[in-house]
Amino acid sequence: MTDGGGPGLREMRWWDIEPVLELERAVFPEDAWSPGMFWSELALAHGPRRSRHYVVADGPGGAAAGYAGLAVAGDQADVQTIAVAPDRQGTGLGARLLTELLTAAGVAGCGEVFLEVRVDNTRAQRLYTRFGFEPLGIRRGYYQPGNHDALVMRRTAPHDHPDES
Ligand SMILES: CC(C)(COP(=O)(O)OP(=O)(O)OC[C@H]1O[C@@H](n2cnc3c(N)ncnc32)[C@H](O)[C@@H]1OP(=O)(O)O)[C@@H](O)C(=O)NCCC(=O)NCCS
Repeated sequence: MTDGGGPGLREMRWWDIEPVLELERAVFPEDAWSPGMFWSELALAHGPRRSRHYVVADGPGGAAAGYAGLAVAGDQADVQTIAVAPDRQGTGLGARLLTELLTAAGVAGCGEVFLEVRVDNTRAQRLYTRFGFEPLGIRRGYYQPGNHDALVMRRTAPHDHPDES
């Protein structure tokens, strides 16, 4: 899918944390991640025991247009976060970010990818459903403050040749 020649995706680095935080606070006003959370995630994104995969899309004037992150643990992965700037939403950038994370999960050999999404975030859920995620269950009060419930979703890696063994 294309977003009409939108920005390329690149690895998120520590110098991206400031613009990413600005976008984070704009799209998650109730429960934005702290700077420390991004720092500790990026600390796990390098080296031989690397377990995180974070990408960012550049916006105008040094702003971030979107970002997303994946955590890998064995043969499972979790979508840690994904966000697109309000004025870029609906252009396909979210789909490109998610594609990048699923590709990274595949390269890491993950058969399953999990995520949590607010039960009232139907737009994000539509995106995930389009990519093959299925609802698994509800986590009550997962999002604090605010006490919002989370829908847990899972995507099982498609098998190219399911009949072969
Ligand atoms: C959820 C989110 C990441 C999706 O990102 P996005 O860039 O808007 O996603 P896409 O553009 O790929 O797809 C969204 C919609 O735009 C449509 N779209 C995609 N490309 C398009 C284009 N070129 N022109 C018009 N519409 C387009 C898609 O069909 C899709 O439609 P749908 O919502 O009816 O299914 C974004 O809305 C967001 O950041 N929301 C706030 C943060 C958030 O909720 N994050 C998820 C937390 S779990």
